[in-house]
Amino acid sequence: MSMVKENTFQSETDIHTDFKDKMTYGDYLGLERLLSSQKPLSGHHDEMLFIVIHQVSELWLKLIIHEIQGAIEAIQKGELKASFKMLARVSKIQAQMIQAWDVLSTLTPSEYMEFRDDLGQASGFQSYQYRLVEFVLGYKTPFILKIYENDSNVHATLQDAYHAPGLYDASITALHEAGFHINKDVLERDMSETYIADDTVLAAWKAVYSDVEVYWDLYELAEKLVDIEDSFQQWRFRHMKTVERIIGHKKGTGGSPGVGYLKKVLEHSFFPELWTIRTEL
Ligand code: HEM
Repeated sequence: MSMVKENTFQSETDIHTDFKDKMTYGDYLGLERLLSSQKPLSGHHDEMLFIVIHQVSELWLKLIIHEIQGAIEAIQKGELKASFKMLARVSKIQAQMIQAWDVLSTLTPSEYMEFRDDLGQASGFQSYQYRLVEFVLGYKTPFILKIYENDSNVHATLQDAYHAPGLYDASITALHEAGFHINKDVLERDMSETYIADDTVLAAWKAVYSDVEVYWDLYELAEKLVDIEDSFQQWRFRHMKTVERIIGHKKGTGGSPGVGYLKKVLEHSFFPELWTIRTEL
């Protein structure tokens, strides 16, 4: 009986080492570029953490935008089940982003003060991917367009998302297509305006939650949206608390009052009716 297991290396010669005309792992992932993009300005040890945590967050934001845009398209085509897969993935990514605050919390105020001045006016406030996520979730703040006025590619991407229907708009259209009465003003609203709660949308969600067996897909969609907003708020809260822990009530490098501003944005709800019905059911 052969003692050789099929899936074990026979010797080091099995390992591919000749990549003269072939693509390596590093080539595929563009690692040379990715791993040479951490350029601390201060020479202080802890600045590397600060850079990496922001870059990791930006990569996750990239995937979130990709998944939500895919989910919007699926909902618009009436393929709700396909959208659930993507929205569930978004929630898992958000969990990673929330956990990342634990890593950043190891940065003390004294350590941060060693390199804070080197950041100048740079701040997460100017994160255009974060604003794109807010746009696809229906929160449309125009100032980010002004910040990127001189960067035509980013500006065009932001403009498109600013004027396009978001995840909630697609969901409301799905309610309408399922036969629920939705105000015409809502269906034909100016998509560049931040979504405002509406009574017909509230009534429709209430009907869905009151008869889940009949409206299971819409009910599942609603719960996926609540998952996403819940996690978004947790991220916002952890950011605010981590910032308070590191800089107290100092002004932000982006020019805002800092923690006071971050507490204020916590008040914004993306899918307001889905929270209101919890009291009304
Ligand atoms: C030492 C760590 C951090 C500090 C002290 C800090 C501080 C702040 C402050 C004070 C603001 C308000 C705007 C301003 O005036 O600058 C802000 C906004 C923001 N920061 Fe951070 N931040 C930190 C880490 C991060 C990380 C790791 C991310 C991940 C991407 C991030 C993303 C953002 C975003 C997206 C905003 C805009 C929030 C909004 O407008 O709702 N921040 N940050």
